[in-house]
Amino acid sequence: MTIPLLELTADGLANSARRIMARCNELARISSLRGGVERVYLSPEHARANRLAAEWMRDVGLTTHQDAAGNQVGRISGRDPEAPALMLGSHLDTVPDAGRFDGILGVLMAIEVVRLLRSRIPTFPFCLEVVAFSDEEGTRFGKALLGSAAVAGSWDPAWWELTDAYGITVRQAFLEFGLDPSRVGEAARRPDELVGYLEAHIEQGPQLDRAGQPLAVVSSIASARRFQITIRGEARHAGGTPYDMRHDALLGASEIAIAVERLCLAEHHLIGTVGQLNAYPGAVNVVPGEARLSLDLRGELEGTRDRVWAALTRELDQIAGRRGLRWEAREVHTASAMVCEPLLMDVMRAGIEGSGQADPMSLFSPAGHDGMAIGRIADIGMLFLRNPDGISHHPDEYVSTEDIAVGLRAFAEAIVHLAREHAR
Ligand code: GLV
Ligand code: MN
Ligand code: MN
Repeated sequence: MTIPLLELTADGLANSARRIMARCNELARISSLRGGVERVYLSPEHARANRLAAEWMRDVGLTTHQDAAGNQVGRISGRDPEAPALMLGSHLDTVPDAGRFDGILGVLMAIEVVRLLRSRIPTFPFCLEVVAFSDEEGTRFGKALLGSAAVAGSWDPAWWELTDAYGITVRQAFLEFGLDPSRVGEAARRPDELVGYLEAHIEQGPQLDRAGQPLAVVSSIASARRFQITIRGEARHAGGTPYDMRHDALLGASEIAIAVERLCLAEHHLIGTVGQLNAYPGAVNVVPGEARLSLDLRGELEGTRDRVWAALTRELDQIAGRRGLRWEAREVHTASAMVCEPLLMDVMRAGIEGSGQADPMSLFSPAGHDGMAIGRIADIGMLFLRNPDGISHHPDEYVSTEDIAVGLRAFAEAIVHLAREHAR
């Protein structure tokens, strides 16, 4: 069976892009944060967003179900309903006080691409699935990629006891959401059920904006490690304690935060962030006796990332020795680098070229994505869309309707190219 050429009109693509923009705005209203966007795993807002996404999935002909880890899934058959599926997706959860597009855009583009391809899908040698992953950010429980890890069959039983800010465990949250923790394994997919995974996402950085280009092929996703570091000194009177008697934990934490920047700047494609820093007991008139800080380290190469963490532990020893402090670190997240598969990169490149953009850039992604987890069971490929000013994880995050329209054309063409490759 031959796979017909795509006939996408500029008007049709513009309508689709406008629908996506309107839906991003609609989803942004499903939020636990007054005046902002915040939607976390296993919350009432997660359930509402899934219901809406399921309606939109059914509207384009997908058969839907919510899986055992709260991911919303839709499927449509190709020429053989038993054939493995090409999975398309991204996530519906957000960081605190988020933008409207991170993850959400990729889910809505996947649904819209099914609409654009609908008349061709019966000729495809694979089925199509759209997955709206339930937890990519890790906002609620501190551990990222819970939804996609469940799909990848790599759920770690230790995660049941992770707690949110109110002390609610993942296990309790599952039950409150109406999910059965003992069935989480049912969300897992086998490698032979999938022909690959494709995701569209805003870049979350300035490279495309700087280059004046709308789209890029992703080459790999950064490896990551996250730590919670505790530094202990001695809490004492802020007025009466002279400097030679102080063991100020916050000053030790501040020095290490500066060291993170210095050590990462000296490396290529490595970036580190201290995003949380709290001092205890947290009084204006008490020298901080304890400081807790987070560290997020991401690197294209795991070796560079690990070398910098080792250097930071030596700095911590040295700072602690000099200031009379003690320190300990708990690793809360580790992810290997994930390289995009050459054929999926090629079809994405061909899709972008088909959208009218010659010689697209290949970008490494310092931001994390569901593909990091799904890459354990399927080849992955990603498409980046220009993110003006590179601002993301912020309410000002933006992508233009025009770029969504060209992104849709590229995404749809990439899938047709892949169908042709598989049909050979
Ligand atoms: C997710 O967006 C991450 O990269 O932290
Ligand atoms: Mn994000
Ligand atoms: Mn994301």
